[in-house]
Amino acid sequence: MRRKLAAGNWKMHGLRADLAQLSALNTAHPDPAIDILICPPATLIAPACAACDGGAVQIGGQDCHARASGAFTGDLSALMLKDAGASAVIVGHSERRDAHEESSEDVRAKAKATHAAGLVAIICLGESLAQREAANTLDIIAGQLSASVPNSADATNTVIAYEPCWAIGSGLTASPEQIGEVHDFIRARLTARFGAAQAGGMRLLYGGSVKPGNAAEIFAVSNVDGALVGGASLRADDFTPIISALEAAR
Ligand code: 13P
Repeated sequence: MRRKLAAGNWKMHGLRADLAQLSALNTAHPDPAIDILICPPATLIAPACAACDGGAVQIGGQDCHARASGAFTGDLSALMLKDAGASAVIVGHSERRDAHEESSEDVRAKAKATHAAGLVAIICLGESLAQREAANTLDIIAGQLSASVPNSADATNTVIAYEPCWAIGSGLTASPEQIGEVHDFIRARLTARFGAAQAGGMRLLYGGSVKPGNAAEIFAVSNVDGALVGGASLRADDFTPIISALEAAR
């Protein structure tokens, strides 16, 4: 069985004062039946690990460079994130694909670097509103999936996050039918490429306006193994009911 995963992406939010939210989360879930991961800004990874030390909440990064080291001013390698205490890295978030023009080939190289560092890659995929309205969603997902996931992917080091761009930060959520269709499709594609044993162990997260009020409905969908949560992961009071909904959905 796949262990469920509640992951939070803090994006460019969070100062040291906000570490209190992590401590509260850690205290509220001393022995969770699922995995909990928070990806704060890179500046907070080390202090976040210290704040959660010995607790269930794991800490991850939001992006990494494809190389382990080099003359790349301002960039961070997966190895550096690991050294700071991260256990996972989000790669290919739509905000990076859009604002930083990252291609699926770039994402694949970053995921490969994440695996080489011994970390879990959370590889993000998702269609735009125009692509969905043109009935191209599954074609887009198929293309992003095959180009963004490296051959080094296996059940232990790879999580796929389906985040429809139009649902991110918009308050719009994909319907259970839309989520189920894409998640079943992703599982089938991964199975065809990696075989049932590996693909069957890879966790598939939904992301896009997941809130305490809609989490249970989303977690009831087939092949949804958890969520990648933006805004509602910033405060322990919001993230805790999402964690509880995921525990209840096991
Ligand atoms: P929101 O939950 O704020 O819509 O963000 C989703 C997301 O982009 C997580 O990576």
